[in-house]
Amino acid sequence: MNPDLKQLQPYPFEKLNALKDGCQPAVEKHIALSIGEPKHDAPAFVLESISNNLDQINRYPLTRGSINLRSAIVNWLNTRFKLADGALDAERQVLPVTGTREALFSFAQCLIDREKDAVILMPNPFYQIYEGAAYLSGAQPVFYNTVKENNYLPDFDAIDEASWQRCQLIYVCTPGNPTGSVISKEQLCKLIELSLKYDFVIASDECYSEIYFDDNNPPTGLLEAAQSCGNHSFKNCIVFHSLSKRSNLPGMRSGFVAGDADIIKSFLLYRTYHGCAMPPVHQFASAEAWNDEEHVIQNRAMYAQKFDAVIDILSDTISITRPDAGFYLWLNTPNDDETFARDLYAQQNVTVLPGSYLSRESEGINPGKNHVRLALVAPLEECVTAAKRIKQYIQTII
Ligand SMILES: Cc1ncc(COP(=O)(O)O)c(C=O)c1O
Repeated sequence: MNPDLKQLQPYPFEKLNALKDGCQPAVEKHIALSIGEPKHDAPAFVLESISNNLDQINRYPLTRGSINLRSAIVNWLNTRFKLADGALDAERQVLPVTGTREALFSFAQCLIDREKDAVILMPNPFYQIYEGAAYLSGAQPVFYNTVKENNYLPDFDAIDEASWQRCQLIYVCTPGNPTGSVISKEQLCKLIELSLKYDFVIASDECYSEIYFDDNNPPTGLLEAAQSCGNHSFKNCIVFHSLSKRSNLPGMRSGFVAGDADIIKSFLLYRTYHGCAMPPVHQFASAEAWNDEEHVIQNRAMYAQKFDAVIDILSDTISITRPDAGFYLWLNTPNDDETFARDLYAQQNVTVLPGSYLSRESEGINPGKNHVRLALVAPLEECVTAAKRIKQYIQTII
């Protein structure tokens, strides 16, 4: 067996199951706010497209995807991130992926030169795939903390010179999971400058970019930042986008990567061997989903309603801040996060995820400690009931 497999940590939900083991909830009807799986309906026109194109199943897909899909993606990126016409070439700078999870993971295998004592920088707390990607690519994960004192944003100035020197790849997650914080264009430009100075690649995980609350101020993206600071070839920049959260299509496994043409070329070569081309039926349906914004606007409105209701219920009991974007509340708990999650489950039958399951000890602290993640994915009434129960629980500990 590959010895690097031994370095993989149990997934947060395994730890959560162990924590809840043996607890008997005191009330009926369980509400899960633990898993970040979208629960709103998939758009009907996407389902129709799938059933209308089933005859495509009898042919092999192209790893690079159809030009129809790649053009739809480029059009979407141009509009959403205000890129100049022609800034991105659909032939050389875009690739479909079967969900960003596999792409975030396989990207490191493609990119890392393991002969060179490689470091992969990643946020802490984080999406655990980044850490696994580092171990399996032979790199050392180095965590940069995102803490309350800095609005849960990365502080790139705090990363030491030796880490930058060894860094071959940095993952950023904006909007962040679990924090919901959005990295500003200025900070992204600073990171691009560092990447050109130290020659590392930026993998910007933007899969929550379409769930935001201020219609006049959508989250900025890495390609937008690159354009604004004059990096017109998007050198060292790759973005990851997904239909899972934007369009409530997590089961379709559809996303894309876009950016630096040289990196995309190598990743295409890698993926040809990897063998994870998107089925043609899903390519058709994905193009239609990227071409439509109406369902995305409706989706956003449903999340905004849930955040309004939940924050309204909790805000007089605990300090709570609306995130910049995404569908998580990252709650700073008055007690230890595991105790909070276990006792909340036992007393109120609501499951939330302890923050320390999403983070590691780094620089002498564990930034997930005393936090829990609430995924507001359930229907509005369920989120409201959960918020009332959480409030009751908090009132017993403050
Ligand atoms: C931060 C982050 N990135 C990527 C993904 C993967 O999404 P998908 O593979 O559905 O595109 C998730 C899923 O929860 C996530 O939270």
